[in-house]
Amino acid sequence: MAIAKSFVFFFLSHLAFFMNLAESKCQNSFHCGHLGFLEFPLSNEPECGLFLVNCTSAIPTIQFGPGGPWYIILQKLSTNKFTVEDGFLHNHLRDRDAICLASGNRSVPYSPFSSFAISPALTIFSCRNFLDPDDRAKVKDYFKNYRNHTCFDSTFYYRDQDNNVPTDIPEKCSVIQMPVKYAPEPGDLFPKLSPEFDVEWDIYRDCLSCHRRGRKCVASNDQIRCEGKSRKTVIIASSIAGSADIEGGSLFFGIPIFSYAELEEATNNFDSSGELGDGGFGTVYYGKLSDGREVAIKRLYEHNYRRVEQFMNEIKILTCLRHPNLVSLYGCTSRRSRELLLVYEYIPNGTVADHLHGERSKEAPLAWPIRMSIAIETANALAYLHKKDIIHRDVKTNNILLDSNFCVKVADFGLSRLFPNDVTHISTAPQGTPGYVDPEYHQCYQLTDKSDVYSFGVVLIELISSMPAVDITRHRHEINLANLALNRIQRCAFDELIDSSLGYDSNGEVTRMTTSVAELAFRCLQLEKDLRPSMEEVLDTLKDIQAGKDCNFEKIKGANSNFNMPRKIPPSFY
Ligand SMILES: *[C@@H]1O[C@H](CO)[C@@H](O)[C@H](O)[C@H]1NC(C)=O
Ligand SMILES: *[C@@H]1O[C@H](CO)[C@@H](O)[C@H](O)[C@H]1NC(C)=O
Ligand SMILES: *[C@@H]1O[C@H](CO)[C@@H](O)[C@H](O)[C@H]1NC(C)=O
Ligand SMILES: *[C@@H]1O[C@H](CO)[C@@H](O)[C@H](O)[C@H]1NC(C)=O
Repeated sequence: MAIAKSFVFFFLSHLAFFMNLAESKCQNSFHCGHLGFLEFPLSNEPECGLFLVNCTSAIPTIQFGPGGPWYIILQKLSTNKFTVEDGFLHNHLRDRDAICLASGNRSVPYSPFSSFAISPALTIFSCRNFLDPDDRAKVKDYFKNYRNHTCFDSTFYYRDQDNNVPTDIPEKCSVIQMPVKYAPEPGDLFPKLSPEFDVEWDIYRDCLSCHRRGRKCVASNDQIRCEGKSRKTVIIASSIAGSADIEGGSLFFGIPIFSYAELEEATNNFDSSGELGDGGFGTVYYGKLSDGREVAIKRLYEHNYRRVEQFMNEIKILTCLRHPNLVSLYGCTSRRSRELLLVYEYIPNGTVADHLHGERSKEAPLAWPIRMSIAIETANALAYLHKKDIIHRDVKTNNILLDSNFCVKVADFGLSRLFPNDVTHISTAPQGTPGYVDPEYHQCYQLTDKSDVYSFGVVLIELISSMPAVDITRHRHEINLANLALNRIQRCAFDELIDSSLGYDSNGEVTRMTTSVAELAFRCLQLEKDLRPSMEEVLDTLKDIQAGKDCNFEKIKGANSNFNMPRKIPPSFY
């Protein structure tokens, strides 16, 4: 009985579906100049889609809501993301008054059926200029750390970088979003604005399913309804969700897309004199963008990227990672560009490897306190990544960059997430670097967060010994620094491991700290990954060592060879 009932229901609902399709005169897709075929929610007929596209002129235009502005479509980035140009902003960039007047009307594209995210965007708080001096003072005080620009009857407050929307903004202030350049100069608001920006839409689910059923989402009288010819209209929302969606703090920023031509110019046609390095996944070039920003541009070797959405999703995750000790990924070229380039923050002062045993070590060797903070900051960045479920996979002193204050910026994380994890596919994606690779990797071909801990153990040894991770001039069994270190630590021959120029044996504090760091590294270098500490634990231990709160030192000093002796690392890992 129940089965028969649900079959009838199934039959009727599908019959209705086909009837609706037959009823509809709307085409599934249409051709639009250089953009190729477009489909719902876009349409070139007002009765059909939700956004109207005009394909009659050479440069197609789009209107997101009836009566709203038309934007020029510069590029189709994906099915729901375009680069557009706001003609009004284009014409009035120098006319501050016009922008002031219009800002309330036309900050971002608006439609009752969709939310929008524009990028790059600046969040601006527009506050009415009160007559009441008390209110005025309150607003002024609330935004005292913001820059401001006074328009006719309101004041815009904004910051140079921070786009976080405070939750409790004063009454009479509203949030607007304005498109800005990729790296706007600090200071005055207007030079930051850009008429070109990326807009990504996300149609409300109820409207999507309404259209999938061959019906149409309609907004009128403060209601959004799903209308169909023969069937009852369904009210979807009883109050039109206005730009409140954007004001509600559900801001969603897409990935900045750079054009290939722009990056070609920034690197002087990938001139080899601008090569910064030849790291995993690709060659890195120094670049200077037209806005003056210095960047490091990575040109990926690999062409077997993941599917578009997944790839973009991974890039989005990486661009969203924000940590003072991680190099920022600004964005990338579009997947349609002829090559995939990743654009990173440029860190000027070389790698820790350079400073420990490379060119820069000859000028002025890093003193112990700096090395200690390098260890802590690197551990901090790795612990952050692990908390976000990202394994670095290639921790080494060549990937730890230093800024002009010797602050750590860890580079090159997460890139293997961009490539398929396909066993049959011979990937050029590196799985670690000789001298740093987790010995367990060769048993199960899988890197874990504990593999990062192992590699970080090698970094710690480099910091205390100033020796490179691999050195073929060393004794056969000690080409790998990890082997050399395990041997010395087990024999308590710290003086044969720790760089004496750091003050080992002459400075009590340095002796205590370097010895404790050696002991911690020993735990990180355990062959069995379960015996290694977590990155969080490593970080805590390092902080304790720095603060003089570690209790292991006396134990180590008195120990003969009580350490858990790991098996020898087979020579194949050299
Ligand atoms: C489409 O654009 C052309 C050229 O700009 C214009 O003449 C025409 O009126 C537009 N059509 C609509 C429906 O806006
Ligand atoms: C902004 O909108 C108001 C009311 O809709 C209108 O009167 C005004 O002309 C618009 N301003 C601009 C610059 O479009
Ligand atoms: C705008 O900023 C200036 C400089 O910080 C400050 O002196 C002034 O009071 C601010 N004006 C308003 C209306 O907040
Ligand atoms: C960074 O580089 C600049 C210029 O090359 C130099 O003056 C400065 O001492 C360097 N700092 C470090 C930390 O290497």
